[in-house]
Amino acid sequence: MNHLLLALLAVGFGGTFIPVAAQAQTSLPEAQVNALEGLFGKQAGSRRSQAKGFCAAGYFVGDATGRGLSSAAVFNGDRVPVIARFSVGGGNPKASDKSRSVRGLALQFSLPNGEQWLMANISAPMYFVSKPEQFAPFLQVRTPDPATGKPDADKLKAFNEANPETTLQGAYLAKAPIPASYATVNYWSTNAFEMVSRGGQSQFVRWQFAPSAGDVGLTEEQLKTFPDNFLADEFTKRVASGPVSFDFKLQLAEAGDQLTDPTRVWPDSRKVVTAGKLVLDKVDAATMAACDKITFNPLVLPAGIKPSADPVLLARPAPYALSLGRRLGEAAK
Ligand code: HEM
Repeated sequence: MNHLLLALLAVGFGGTFIPVAAQAQTSLPEAQVNALEGLFGKQAGSRRSQAKGFCAAGYFVGDATGRGLSSAAVFNGDRVPVIARFSVGGGNPKASDKSRSVRGLALQFSLPNGEQWLMANISAPMYFVSKPEQFAPFLQVRTPDPATGKPDADKLKAFNEANPETTLQGAYLAKAPIPASYATVNYWSTNAFEMVSRGGQSQFVRWQFAPSAGDVGLTEEQLKTFPDNFLADEFTKRVASGPVSFDFKLQLAEAGDQLTDPTRVWPDSRKVVTAGKLVLDKVDAATMAACDKITFNPLVLPAGIKPSADPVLLARPAPYALSLGRRLGEAAK
């Protein structure tokens, strides 16, 4: 709020200034994006999360299993054009490709009927918060105190103890190999979605993209010898010698499975079916330029796929739009 408006409000209340809490407060999406900037710095022109990235193009082909579960035109069996953005976790555009963080796979599907399907997936089966309100404090307790140059250990401990589910993703990443390629790691939606069939039947799912090249991590030796930037070159070379593909898989929820907490994975015993294939066969400057301007808002869904009531999923569009606004505004300067 600007000072003139405050002054006018003060006049309106007979000259007595009455602070109204809501007016001074930062909205939740602003707090989330500000917390990303607080931890990673304000990186002009970059995405505030998953800042370091690389784009490719290709297509998706849905199969009969997909058609059985959802009426979405994306499963009709034809090639659906796709733009993909791979990324390294965090808000630093210069992050090392050897970072022990998630890798991202964001996709834009352009369906034959003019619909779009957007999504952004990560290389961990769980997300780091179960509620959107935990997002900013999770980052703030990890942000170095300017006085000491380190995060406050007591605050971090207290937050972790009060929010134990926010440590599950870190524990998973601590044990997972560091991906040797964007093409050799599994990506998960973490959030649940609802597939609705032509007959109106509902099935809640979490999806994954399983790499045809298998899961391959860096060896101890490669971790020492590889430079901080190798993922983009590696992917470009890989595509030059043949398409990169992923199986699109759906983990099917059973009655009673929780649908609203992306920190909790469903039991391994849940059925996983393949519903299509993603093929990436092009890396070029035009794709890169187009993809910079996209924000992969996961609530842009085609008819036949609906969001679950997961509050983390439902909270995503606003901070994505805010980040898009900030980075495109900066890039234009
Ligand atoms: C409250 C929860 C969340 C907040 C506040 C948040 C915030 C953000 C922001 C600000 C961006 C940058 C958007 C842009 O500039 O275009 C972003 C990107 C991204 N987020 Fe989230 N996010 C949340 C949940 C999730 C979840 C649950 C996932 C897991 C699948 C996820 C995966 C990603 C990925 C992969 C990207 C990069 C997309 C791209 O390549 O453009 N986020 N997030």
